[in-house]
Amino acid sequence: IPVDDFDLVVFGATGDLAQRKILPALFRRFVAGQIPESARIIGAARTEQDDAAFRDEARRAISEHGRVPQDDPRLARFLELLAYTAVDAKGDGGWADLKARMREGAVHAFYFSVAPALFGDIAERLASHGIADRDSRIVVEKPFGRDLQTARDLNDMLARHFGEQQIYRIDHYLGKETVQNLMAVRFANILFEPLWNSQYVDHVQITVAETVGVAGRGSYYDKSGAIRDMVQNHMMQLLCLIAMEPPYHFDPNAVRDEKLKVIRALQPVEPDDIVRGQYQGDGKSTGYAEDAENPATRTESYVAMKVCISNWRWQGTPFYLRTGKKLRARTSEIAVVFREPPHSIFDDTGAPKANELVIRLQPNEGMNLKVMIKEPGPGGMRLVQVPLDMSFADALGQDGSDMPDAYERLIMDVIRGNQTLFMRGDEVEAAWAWTDPIIAAWEDSKRRPEPYDAGSSGPEEALRLMHRDNRRWREIR
Ligand code: BG6
Repeated sequence: IPVDDFDLVVFGATGDLAQRKILPALFRRFVAGQIPESARIIGAARTEQDDAAFRDEARRAISEHGRVPQDDPRLARFLELLAYTAVDAKGDGGWADLKARMREGAVHAFYFSVAPALFGDIAERLASHGIADRDSRIVVEKPFGRDLQTARDLNDMLARHFGEQQIYRIDHYLGKETVQNLMAVRFANILFEPLWNSQYVDHVQITVAETVGVAGRGSYYDKSGAIRDMVQNHMMQLLCLIAMEPPYHFDPNAVRDEKLKVIRALQPVEPDDIVRGQYQGDGKSTGYAEDAENPATRTESYVAMKVCISNWRWQGTPFYLRTGKKLRARTSEIAVVFREPPHSIFDDTGAPKANELVIRLQPNEGMNLKVMIKEPGPGGMRLVQVPLDMSFADALGQDGSDMPDAYERLIMDVIRGNQTLFMRGDEVEAAWAWTDPIIAAWEDSKRRPEPYDAGSSGPEEALRLMHRDNRRWREIR
């Protein structure tokens, strides 16, 4: 279904995110017939260039990142939607031109794909030049602050010009198909919900493992580390979707209210419940310190932690989170490990093992439920655990590469005016309020992260987190 006619202004249109994600995502939605031919996408940045130069740049970016030939006729049609205006975020240059380009009657959205330091200047000028009004939508990217105070400052600054219902804070994990699927699996089946609590769930493991390092973005990453870069936002969102109560309706505030309650119920993390790691070079591959260009760095490229949620549903069921760079494989998954059956009626023929539901977020998106069955054969009642394995692509008869990119869904939701998959200001602040003391305790401790080999499963120390609780991590592969 096509969305309403819109003018989308992309600030920072010549930057990496716009070229790698935003423009290719818009192109794919255009090809899917969702973007009306009358829509306008206006690039805005400091560089002085005309529409034609911007379209050329966009053609190259979309061709490279969207994997389409540069002479694809659909690309030529899409590029006609594009225009460009040079603006000076810190001065008055260009703003009148931008205003002149905005059409009456179309949805107006402004995408801040720029460093957060510029958010205030741009918001100010959009308001003072009368370009944005009460119906306009503002899209902001992470990082949304680097601690509670900076996040509050950003929220306050945006609130001076826009209402909360106009602000779309992106966490691109929420746009991933399989992440949205978590809600479908939990709230559109009767099978799981009765078991979804500490009485039946022993623990939950959330893993986001990456094979890439931080080379090329070391200067950002080294000031951030895995906790700010991944845990405060993406991992937190996954945790919320797994742990939250059923919202009364799939409605933006109903969903976000429930997520907020989870974040507020998170217990502080004790120093003993967290392990940080840093990947080491091995001659073939560079180490973190080298990638970050900071020999003395104590920033973590890996973190594993045990998180407890103090509420009626989850008291006694820990959530183990881990994420890291340069690990053995690129894999993101959530494993819900159930408790063992309370009593076995079988003799010494193999004790029943705990059921496990593994939701694979990427790659090879799907679900795997481990169940016990009788091993075939006349040898008596021997038990064996087997997987009920499903890949979403197979089940739906799709090619896995057809899975829409998170940005496609999220940008279309902005135009449709649906905030369900975007973070509310209080949610972001609550997440920082929980991570701030974890980061502060680390800074005070003066400890160094545990080294781990590039291409491994992370530091040995992380195993301890599980072993002492008589549990084990799932293999990263
Ligand atoms: C980004 C982080 O937000 O998410 C990166 O800044 C990380 O460090 C990326 O690599 C992971 O996203 P995805 O979609 O590749 O899982």
